[in-house]
Order: sequence, then structure tokens, then C-alpha cells
Amino acid sequence: MATTYEVVLYGASGYTGKLTAWKLAERGIPFIAAGRSKERLEEELAKVPELAGHDYQCVAVQHETGALTEFFKGKKVVINIVGPFMQLGSPVVEASLAAGCNYFDTTGETDWMSLLKRTYGESFAARGLALCPGNSYMWAEGNLAAEIALETPGIDTLDVLYLGDSEVSVASTMSFLRMCTQPQFYLRNKQLVQWPWATPYQVHVPGEHMLLNALPWSGGGEPVWYQDDPRVRNCQTLVSFRNQERFLAVVGLLKKFEEECRHLDPAKQEEVTNEWGKAVTQVEPPRENPDVNRCTLSCQGRGNTNSVSVILRGNSPYAQTGVLGAEAARRVLRGQLHAVGFVSPAQAFGARNLVAAQAEEGYLAYEVKSV
Ligand SMILES: NC(=O)c1ccc[n+]([C@@H]2O[C@H](COP(=O)([O-])OP(=O)(O)OC[C@H]3O[C@@H](n4cnc5c(N)ncnc54)[C@H](OP(=O)(O)O)[C@@H]3O)[C@@H](O)[C@H]2O)c1
Repeated sequence: MATTYEVVLYGASGYTGKLTAWKLAERGIPFIAAGRSKERLEEELAKVPELAGHDYQCVAVQHETGALTEFFKGKKVVINIVGPFMQLGSPVVEASLAAGCNYFDTTGETDWMSLLKRTYGESFAARGLALCPGNSYMWAEGNLAAEIALETPGIDTLDVLYLGDSEVSVASTMSFLRMCTQPQFYLRNKQLVQWPWATPYQVHVPGEHMLLNALPWSGGGEPVWYQDDPRVRNCQTLVSFRNQERFLAVVGLLKKFEEECRHLDPAKQEEVTNEWGKAVTQVEPPRENPDVNRCTLSCQGRGNTNSVSVILRGNSPYAQTGVLGAEAARRVLRGQLHAVGFVSPAQAFGARNLVAAQAEEGYLAYEVKSV
């Protein structure tokens, strides 16, 4: 009997698309691998060993709202992995809404998250659909740790730190360099406050002696997730990478942007960061190695007179992003979606469920301490 495909993996030919395909196959979920070229999709997905014998189809579709709407009709879940999302995401989210699909993406761009919340949140809610951007390592891990911190009564302040140590993909580099162009925010006393431009901070990663440089990295998704949350008064996110030489090169690009590009119009600014991104990263990285590509997420929560420390020690942030996409599909298909409209991954599926899914595959272990 022919399969009725309920899941579309859009942008399946890319680095993160192939990792998500792997994780969908492990869960036995049939899917359509979609993108702009059938040939390229077939060629790239043939490189994923776990897809041998799995039920999936490669289909080309035009990157345009009408064509995507027709294509998404009858499906339940769209996993969008085509970025930078502020440049390419609108037709996909509009088509998901029009076709009645739950929408998940892997964005790290906080202006895209805010745009979706503002523009489409209510429409998705009215149709009983989830609109969940940032269903990716950044900004799901901080969301999951924050929710565990918020289980402690009185916690109202979330101080989130990411430490990564992976190679990055081409579209990731273009996407994260967009942080040059946009104001970055943290939450202080329930108000969004802008971080100074192009300013690194020294951070202490729990369990390590050396200080590392960190950046707000577009502000982090957590201030967006918690902006209107009655439990949260303060929330800030910083991001560091183990390779500090390369990290400082990114800081250098931010400073260069301030000196040479801040005056340019928005479209030109995006052209510049795209050009820089393509120059910095030209090849797709290999799959992450858990022994090498480790990561740490620390969420220090505090209230008036108490505090809690939640630390996720793990590996392979890109593979974790694949797990999050595949888990979203699995849980929607099983009727385990907890909330609709603009939702964080934790609101959609429960923080402890998603932490457990990552832990089960060996991608993290977690520690919670009252401190
Ligand atoms: N926040 C996180 O933790 C996290 C983690 C992983 C990924 N991401 C984000 O996810 C996005 C994709 O990352 P990636 O690692 O998969 O990058 P990638 O390997 O460079 O792949 C990019 C994908 O987008 C497709 N694409 C590019 N331009 C397109 C266009 N104009 N029309 C249709 N498709 C287009 C590519 O298709 P072709 O093969 O046809 O070129 C490819 O499938 C990036 O924005 C990245 O920042 C975020």
C-alpha cells in the first residue's frame, strides 16, 4: 500500500537536513525530503546510511508560497531547515499555515522568532497548529534547562550560557553572522534591554578553570521564549565556543561591521554578512564526533533568596538538532502536542520529555543542584 506521507523535511539536502533525516529514519517515520533540486536531494540523502531501506521520497518544489502551500496540503508536520530564515523563511511559514501544517524550524535568528510570534502566532493558534521556531540546539537546550530551573518555586531569573565545540555549516555561518545587523536583547525586570554592539564578555563555564570569551549571539532565544512569561523577571543568554581563536575572529567581524557597515541599508547589510559567511565556511563538516564535539549548557536560576543550577553536559549540537526535529514529528503524529500557537519546544512537548529523548541517545546528561 502506498504511504501517506505526513512529514515534510524542507531543506533535507543540507547538513542539518541529513542529520534530521537520520533521526526520522531511526524513529521509523516516513517523510518527504523536499528542496529546490530533486537531483541534489537524492545525491545528498544517499550519503545517509540509516536511510537504506527507509520509506522516504525526494521531491523538488519551488521556493514560493503558492507552490509550497499546494505541496504541504494533506501533511501534518513541516520541518523547515532552509536558512537564513529572515531571508528565506516567510514563504515556508505562510504555506504551512495555509495548508494546515504544524511548523517547526531550526532557526537561531532571534529577530525571526519575534517576527513569527508577532505576525503568525495568533493565526496558528486559531487553527490549532504549533508554530515553533528554534526547535534546534540553539535555542531549545537553554529552554529545556530553564524549564527545569523554573520547577524550583521562586526562581524568576535565568542566566543561560552555551559552550559549543563543533564545526559549523555554510548556512549556519551566514545565519549567525546576521547578529552583526540586528539589535540583541536580554530581559531585565520584564523589559527588553539592548546589549551593546560588538562587545564580548568573559564567562566561566561550570566545571572549567579558564575564562572564555562569549557573545550574546543575536541575544539568544531564551529572552524571546520568556518575554511574556509571568514566572520570569530576568533572562540573559551568552554563547561561547571552545575554539577561541575562531571565536575572536567572529568578534573581529562584529567590530569591522560597526566600523564599516552599520551605515548601510538593511538589504546591503545582509548581503555583506552573507558574503562574509560564505567566505568563512565553504564546506560541509563531517558528522560530529561525541568525543570531540562536546557542549555544555548552564542555566543558573535564582529567586529572591534561593538559587538552582541546571547543567546539561553533552555532545553533537547539530545531531541534537536532528533529534529535536524528529521528536517533534513523532510527538505530533502520536497526538502528544501540548500547546498550539507560538510555542517553545518545552511548551510544545514538555522539557523533561525532550531532555529524556536526548539523554536516551547519549547526547546529554543533566545535573540539577540547589545552590
Ligand atoms: N540554532 C541551531 O542550533 C541550528 C542548528 C542547525 C542548523 N541551524 C540553522 O538551520 C539552517 C540550515 O542549516 P544547515 O546546517 O542545514 O545548512 P546547509 O548545510 O548550508 O544547508 C542549507 C539548506 O538550505 C537549502 N537552501 C539554501 N538556499 C535555498 C533557497 N534559496 N531555496 C531553497 N532551499 C535553499 C539548501 O539547499 P541546496 O542543497 O539545494 O543548496 C540546503 O538544503 C541555518 O539557518 C542554520 O543556522 C540552526
